[in-house]
Amino acid sequence: YLHPVILSGGSGTRLWPLSREQYPKQLIALIGNDTMLQQTAMRLAGFSGSLPVAREPIVVCNEEYRFITAEQMRAIGCATQHILLEPVGRNTAPALTLAALTVNRENTDGVLLVMPADHVIRDREAFHRAVATGLDAAKAGAMVAFGIVPERAETGYGYIRVGAEAAPGVHQVAAFVEKPDAQTATEYVASGAYLWNSGLFMVRAAIWLKAIAHFNPAMLTACEAGIDAAARDADFVRVGREAFEACPSDSIDYAVMEKLAAAPELGIAPQVVPMSVGWSDVGAWDALWALAEKDDAGNAGRGDVLFEATTDSLVHATSRMVVCLGVDSLVVVETADAVMVANKEHTQDVKKIVARLKAEN
Ligand code: GDD
Ligand code: MG
Repeated sequence: YLHPVILSGGSGTRLWPLSREQYPKQLIALIGNDTMLQQTAMRLAGFSGSLPVAREPIVVCNEEYRFITAEQMRAIGCATQHILLEPVGRNTAPALTLAALTVNRENTDGVLLVMPADHVIRDREAFHRAVATGLDAAKAGAMVAFGIVPERAETGYGYIRVGAEAAPGVHQVAAFVEKPDAQTATEYVASGAYLWNSGLFMVRAAIWLKAIAHFNPAMLTACEAGIDAAARDADFVRVGREAFEACPSDSIDYAVMEKLAAAPELGIAPQVVPMSVGWSDVGAWDALWALAEKDDAGNAGRGDVLFEATTDSLVHATSRMVVCLGVDSLVVVETADAVMVANKEHTQDVKKIVARLKAEN
């Protein structure tokens, strides 16, 4: 089977005041009526490739969000037998390791399609084609990433230097650099030799476990202990707290992707499927504006919103009416207890506000 694994652990601080600790980005509807988690869970519907898709996606999330996560999955008709609950966050590599252990104990040939819960992919059919393109490589034991043509020198992403074509539509990863500094990112984008890492991966469960055993055996041991000590609680699998608290924290990118190209002795080829699927990780409000449907003046509104003589603005109103008159490039986010009015060019800095609020409280 092809097992969708949804990583649902982020906080999305740059989307404050809508995204909160109580309600992180993946659990809210930013575009359309479904939440980001629901959109992710439905992303493979109708997929046909050389493996059938497992009926139950594996969702890995913090135990704090278990009820809302289960409720959102049920609302779209997804079986919820496989919600893995982390007692604490240890970043994406342990989250994926928990899912890989779960799958591998039932089926050592299972392929995981790892999907962040908080991304938008607008062209679902093109995405299905990309997955189908990479599937044979994953079945054969590669660690497959999905690459996006970079649009700017973003420092919050991983960069993939594209190597030789390994199979139609699949390239070797010549190098993987996670979150380079601004100057390096600028050079990479100018060179035309790099793709952004989308954060989606496809890999056999057994291959991921082999990689983690090699690069971070303590992580594998802690995750195994966490699964061994896991308790089933209705739809949830509660990972053992003590074991998982002892797990080292690291991301898929730093723990494995960056190291694979330099470790040919392992026999796990890092490969990449370049894709053009309308991908965005909706990192901040300006990205949401870019994605949203806009009127002729470039305005996008959600909720009870009125624009007059206004251009290129985004308004998200949840509980009151918001009117914009004679303004340009604003982002206004209205919630019951906080309102943000921001220059659209500054929305990356919302995380500074969140940090200040945290420090002051
Ligand atoms: N279950 C679980 N537990 N999920 C987690 C955890 C965790 O501890 N930490 C993060 N996640 C989820 C997030 O919710 C998100 O959906 C996904 O894993 C990726 O984590 P981020 O923290 O958002 O990673 P990033 O944005 O810094 O970088 C990754 O994504 C970029 C593209 O958006 C990397 O893969 C980059 O290389 C990539 O370019
Ligand atoms: Mg992210």
